[in-house]
Amino acid sequence: MNYPSKVKIVDVGPRDGLQNEKRPVSAEIKIGLVHRLQDAGLKEIEVTSFVSPKWVPQMADNAEVMHGIRRKPGVRYSVLTPNMKGFEAAIAAPRDEWPDEIVVFGAASEAFSQRNINCSIAESIERFRPVVEAARDKGIYVRGAMSCAVGCPYEGEIPPSRVDMLAGLMKGIGVQHVGVADTIGVATPVKVQRALEATLRHFDIDDVSGHYHDTYGQALGNTLASLEMGVWQYDTSSAGLGGCPYAKGATGNVATEDVVYMLQGMGIETGIDLDRLIDAGVYISDALGRKPNSRASTAILNKRAA
Ligand code: HMG
Ligand code: MG
Repeated sequence: MNYPSKVKIVDVGPRDGLQNEKRPVSAEIKIGLVHRLQDAGLKEIEVTSFVSPKWVPQMADNAEVMHGIRRKPGVRYSVLTPNMKGFEAAIAAPRDEWPDEIVVFGAASEAFSQRNINCSIAESIERFRPVVEAARDKGIYVRGAMSCAVGCPYEGEIPPSRVDMLAGLMKGIGVQHVGVADTIGVATPVKVQRALEATLRHFDIDDVSGHYHDTYGQALGNTLASLEMGVWQYDTSSAGLGGCPYAKGATGNVATEDVVYMLQGMGIETGIDLDRLIDAGVYISDALGRKPNSRASTAILNKRAA
């Protein structure tokens, strides 16, 4: 099998992970997590989201977090911006606090689009259009997230034709990269490959990533199936944090630790120091009062303790 020789991991834990926590997490802890992730060698971190604080109060400290992070050269910082209001808030700070990349997030399912961002898929594209234009105009890279690319908590199974449609719409408004997201972690490897194939009809392999939640324990398998297709970029969460407040029952993203362990074993370069990554996962898990949700982390911590 011809696997990619290098993989880029975007740790989405500070955003996807912490948006879903019942227990409040201070800006200071979020900043501490970002610092630990970059010190572990992560080259891209999804820091926060500029969404309505009424919808997602966990991310209300977005500007404070962006202001507090110590930028490390070579690291890219991304944030979610669902509309112009969010984009304007993301660039209200001085230029050196702007995100390097923004994420517009749509869904392959109408029902999820309504529940998550309060509009239809078609309306969401019209909301994203000026955001994409303004971001690109300012030299900010634009990623699109495609939620429910395989399954939806409200509509059930989503066929690849819906992903094809959404990827085409995203491409049409100038989105530069898209992530195929299994929001509720129901996907299995062949279904993920079908969703990726639909996406690759519109985007180059270098502009596509996988974002797999691990609810059914399939995310590593789905990652391997994607690697087999040449996909080399993945969103993962430190300590397996994550979920979406509008996708009840869905658990976190695949743990960054587990993906890095697998890639290291396959001889695929990530630039990430697994030991320091584990320490980052322990730091945030301690703050949340639990153990990291990562098998690789548990195994290595047990080994350290022995
Ligand atoms: P809306 O109610 O349709 O927006 O919400 P609106 O434009 O009608 O405005 C209503 C109010 O919200 C107004 O305030 C606006 O100012 C305010 P009011 O006058 O009532 O005081 N508002 C905002 N405030 C701050 N920042 C903004 C903003 N926009 C409007 N950007 C909206 C639309 C998108 C804002 C709302 O539905 C929302 O915030 N949704 C949150 C969705 C979210 O964050 N979901 C989780 C992230 S997505 C995810 O996890 C999936 C992903 O991981 C991939 C995967 O796994 O699938 C990415
Ligand atoms: Mg997600």
